[in-house]
Amino acid sequence: MRTCFGFGFAFAVILGAATAASAAPGDPLPPKTVAWSFDGPFGHYDRGALKRGFQVYTEVCSACHSLNLVSFHALSEPGGPGFTEAEMKAIAASHKIAAGPNDKGDTVDSSGNPLTRPGTPADHFPPPFANEQAARAANNGALPPDQSVLVKAREGGSDYVYSICSGYGQTPPAGFTVMTGKYYNPYFDGWNISMPQPIADSSVTYSDGTKATIDQECRDVVTFLTWAAEPKMEERKHLGFEVILFLLGFSFLLYLTYRRVWRDMH
Ligand code: HEC
Repeated sequence: MRTCFGFGFAFAVILGAATAASAAPGDPLPPKTVAWSFDGPFGHYDRGALKRGFQVYTEVCSACHSLNLVSFHALSEPGGPGFTEAEMKAIAASHKIAAGPNDKGDTVDSSGNPLTRPGTPADHFPPPFANEQAARAANNGALPPDQSVLVKAREGGSDYVYSICSGYGQTPPAGFTVMTGKYYNPYFDGWNISMPQPIADSSVTYSDGTKATIDQECRDVVTFLTWAAEPKMEERKHLGFEVILFLLGFSFLLYLTYRRVWRDMH
């Protein structure tokens, strides 16, 4: 009985310490758990969410975050947002891409602005800033990370990016100081994030009639960014399923062969 109490006490102390540690100021909260359409072995990207998420990225996030690894033609490829070829070409053409030197060798126009040309399907999304210094200068010294593989690069993946996106607007606990030029977000390591709240209700207007709440917009943009980080996910999951089916069928045939070969030996 004594030992039992002893154990119980030790356990309580350890548990207490663990709880205290997780509640230390600045320790990020575990990401919210979201049920994604792309979870699990049969997961797929919700096409509507991909298209709406593309809109949120374009109208909001792309002001600060680049998407360097994604090319426009991916937008009309199977397993992606499902834009038609013509829609994808129009999207590409609506972006200005830095052009190389012209016939005269100039890279800037008469007013000193860099020469640009309309995008083509082979181009990648152009970055919002010319270089890292310009990006930091516009963001209080902080660098908005490229979003091409952000979902894969962060522990917690899609849930983490969703939690950062939707984790604003809470009151910091008493005694916690939000630094000047920073914002409180308990899902970010240190709780002080240099990104102002990017999404509010109706930050965008959806053409498919979906209500643009913070939750909806963050889900949609995270679906889009998950696809950006893993555009071939559906193909991979289908292939995995077909391989399993094949192996099952093959094992059954082997079993029948075994029965036949050993038929007279029993
Ligand atoms: C006004 C500029 C701005 C906009 C707009 C913006 N961000 Fe950010 N974002 C930043 C900056 C700056 C950081 C770096 C924060 C830091 O290091 O403290 C950041 C960081 C992040 C992070 C954390 C990454 C990490 O390092 O763990 C996520 C997730 C993120 N942004 C998502 C988004 C999404 C999604 C959108 C669009 C809905 C968006 N951001 C729009 C400026 C912006």
